[in-house]
Amino acid sequence: MYHYHKIFKNDMQMYLNIQTLSLAMAGFVLFTDFFGLSAYSKDAEKELSPGERFHHETSLTWRGVIGDVFRSKPKKPPQYKNYPDSKIIKLPKPAYRGIPLEEAIGKRRSVRNYSSKPLTMFQLSQLLFSAQGITGKLYDQSLRTAPSAGALYPIEVYVIANTIEGLPQGIYHYDVLNHSLELVKSGDFSKEITAGGLEQEMLGDADVTFVLSAIFDRVRHKYGERGFRYAYIEAGHISQNIYLQAVSLGLGSVSVGAFLDEKINDLIGVDGQTEAVLYLHAVGTL
Ligand SMILES: Cc1cc2nc3c(=O)[nH]c(=O)nc-3n(C[C@H](O)[C@H](O)[C@H](O)COP(=O)(O)O)c2cc1C
Repeated sequence: MYHYHKIFKNDMQMYLNIQTLSLAMAGFVLFTDFFGLSAYSKDAEKELSPGERFHHETSLTWRGVIGDVFRSKPKKPPQYKNYPDSKIIKLPKPAYRGIPLEEAIGKRRSVRNYSSKPLTMFQLSQLLFSAQGITGKLYDQSLRTAPSAGALYPIEVYVIANTIEGLPQGIYHYDVLNHSLELVKSGDFSKEITAGGLEQEMLGDADVTFVLSAIFDRVRHKYGERGFRYAYIEAGHISQNIYLQAVSLGLGSVSVGAFLDEKINDLIGVDGQTEAVLYLHAVGTL
């Protein structure tokens, strides 16, 4: 009995020592950070470019983390965006089994020349599923093919359909939950997407251009301004999935970061502030 008591006492002592040490270390970090003794505080004194300022002001510091608790944050927007009155096009079930992952990684290249052969609905379905399809569940939360900070999924995917067998030309929104398309507007937008993409011709030649936008408040309500970074990073994950799926389907694709923001925001009908386009990804047959 005495023996157990002694062990318990020693454990308690060790636990208390670790607690004290951790508190002292956290105190030191907070002290240096709060009173501007850290390396970052020197940057604040010099003139920063817009990019440097964005990076600096969204860098995590203890002061920022604590200050964030008291800062007001936007309300959480709905997890899923929908176009309730739009025409719905159900996509075929994604069931493709392609080449080994290592082969797809090894073969991946940005491809900007495509054949005149149209894309099939099955290929479109597979590409969208790899971009953002639902692959799991954690409690009430659906999980997707690409990772997302806090599983908050800020990215929306739009489809600029140019030459797809059985799908009229137009702009569609990808309904992740139902693996279907919602028609945003009908028509041939190959000229508009090329003009908005600084005259990069492959955008108008591609069978499909995926437009990745972010609803920033989905991440901002939890992570504050740093959430913007998380949205950009996530768009990269999604684009890589499209690249690899395109290779596996024997298609060519290229991601595009150079575009006139206002033109592409207008094209898909988002305001550029609460929701803004981050990235484009063109795909075509070879
Ligand atoms: C963030 C980002 C933006 C890009 N923007 C463009 C673009 O606007 N136009 C383009 O033709 N390629 C663009 N690319 C593709 C790169 O040019 C390409 O990845 C690079 O030349 C390397 O070639 P690879 O992808 O074939 O390996 C972009 C790639 C990334 C990651």
